[in-house]
This record gives sequence, C-alpha cells and structure tokens, in this order.
Amino acid sequence: MAHQLLAGKKGIVFGALDEHSIAWHVAEKCAEQGAKLCLTNTPVALRMGKIQDLASRLNASLIGADATSLEDLETLLKQSMEQFGGKIDFILHSVGMSMNVRKGKPYTDLNYEYLHKTLDISAISFHKLMQTAMNLDAISEWGSILALTYIAAQRIFPDYNDMADAKALLESIGRSYGYHFGTHKKVRVNTISQSPTFTTAGSGVGHFQEFFDYADKMSPLGNAPASACADFCVVMFSDLTRMVTMQNIYHDGGFSTMGMNPAVLNIRA
Ligand SMILES: NC(=O)c1ccc[n+]([C@@H]2O[C@H](COP(=O)([O-])OP(=O)(O)OC[C@H]3O[C@@H](n4cnc5c(N)ncnc54)[C@H](O)[C@@H]3O)[C@@H](O)[C@H]2O)c1
Repeated sequence: MAHQLLAGKKGIVFGALDEHSIAWHVAEKCAEQGAKLCLTNTPVALRMGKIQDLASRLNASLIGADATSLEDLETLLKQSMEQFGGKIDFILHSVGMSMNVRKGKPYTDLNYEYLHKTLDISAISFHKLMQTAMNLDAISEWGSILALTYIAAQRIFPDYNDMADAKALLESIGRSYGYHFGTHKKVRVNTISQSPTFTTAGSGVGHFQEFFDYADKMSPLGNAPASACADFCVVMFSDLTRMVTMQNIYHDGGFSTMGMNPAVLNIRA
C-alpha cells in the first residue's frame, strides 16, 4: 500500500515501546507512506532498547522525553524541528499509564497520588504537549495532532478504573485545544477511540482477555487491530482529512454503536 500519503511530511510519534504498541505500527505505516519521523518515549523505555531498533530501521531520530515534563517537551520539539529542518506536520500522542491499575487498586479505593499521576501522564501531558508546541509555533499550518483513547470515557467498563477518567479528560482537552489550535494556526486536533488491543498498557487492565473477547463478539467487524489503527492514523495525518477537527472518532469495528449483538448471547441474529 505505497500511496505515499505522507510524502514530505515530518512527524513525532510518542509511545512505541515494543512491537505490540499501537504507536509502533503507526510509526511503521507513516514511514511506509513517506513521512520523516522522530520517535520519542521515556528514558526508561529508551534503555529497554527495542525502540532504538525501530528508529534505526525507519531511519528516524530518537529523543527521550517524559511527556509530563514541560522542559523535556520543549527540548523534544526544538530538537526535532532542528533535525527536520522545519516545522512539524503531525504528532501522535500514544501515552497512557495508571499506577492504580498496575498496583491493583480498585476504583473505590484509589490512591490519590497515583490518580494525579494517571491524569498527568495519560491526559494533561496532551495539553502540555500542545501548549508547548503552540508557544514555540512548532506545528505547520494544516498540521494534524492525534491522541489515542478508549470508549470507557463515555461508558462504564469497571476494570478500566481511573484510566476512564483520564480518557474523558484527554478527549475534552482534544476538543478544547482543537478550538484554539484551529483558530490561531489552522492545526487540527482529534482523538481516536480504539478497540481493546493486546499491548503492555492494554493487558494491564483486569480480565483483559475476557474484555477483548466480549468486544470482539459485540463488534460486527470484530476488534480493530493495531495495524488498522495505524492505517487510520495515516489518513488522519494526511491532507485528505484537513477539515476534520475536534472529533473523537471511533475505530472499533462498530462496537460503539451496538446495543446488543446476538453473537454475545450465542443466539442467532
Ligand atoms: N491497548 C488498548 O487496548 C488500547 C485501547 C484504546 C486506547 N489505547 C491507548 O493507546 C495508547 C497507547 O497504548 P498501547 O496500548 O499501545 O500500550 P503501550 O504500553 O505499548 O504504550 C503506552 C506508552 O506510554 C508510554 N509512557 C508511559 N508513561 C509515559 C511518560 N510519562 N512519558 C512518555 N511516555 C510514557 C510507555 O512507555 C508506552 O510506550 C494509550 O493512550 C492507550 O490508553 C489502548
């Protein structure tokens, strides 16, 4: 599928940890479509080494940054503009983490320090990124910024825990910043609400296999895999979607529109 939809474009991809990461697939597809890339993740993720292999394979630069640190974000944006020799055309925010989920704290017994971290890493970092980018005038006109989210922002999935609140905030930040970035710089901001996907972050959610199987049966097209999410991100970064902004777009095989699917109840439609 070598359409070169992103030929001449330069983008930053957050969150490729290993080959399961959604961002890993996005980086591969963006490179395949002709984009020049800068990959970024936490210094710890960089030390794990897998992202280094991806960066060298895609001929991308690699810059460590904690997405909650304004200083790191400023350095990341400045250095990538230097390396690109110009402004940035697209950014994928593919960042999420909850210590409450990791430590098995239920929603009715949250550790509030962990909750602050969840919100900072998984949602407020999106605001920090866009505010820093706007202050530096780092994004090209008609640029495209995306973040990945999940339907637990709108409906209750009890095991999603405090990440549900983080995703609600993330989507709201996307809409709010979309107004400002659109008005001032003609930059679009959207969130993509992806199906359950087996990744390090995804599998941390309690009963993930059952959760995955349920969504798969409920969705007329089945769960959307990471590679299809990557295809969709490519289109959202391309000029073909330049008038789409401030949207939360479901990429979920139809799950979000279903009420009941007979397949879930093992009865015929
Ligand atoms: N896997 C799913 O089922 C699913 C479904 C819908 C949405 N999402 C979202 O997709 C995004 C990517 O997650 P994934 O499923 O690919 O898992 P992943 O674990 O591969 O990616 C999460 C990434 O966040 C990075 N990260 C964590 N803290 C960070 C920080 N402080 N600064 C910078 N980076 C940090 C991690 O290093 C990792 O690369 C997340 O926002 C996640 O919530 C995932």
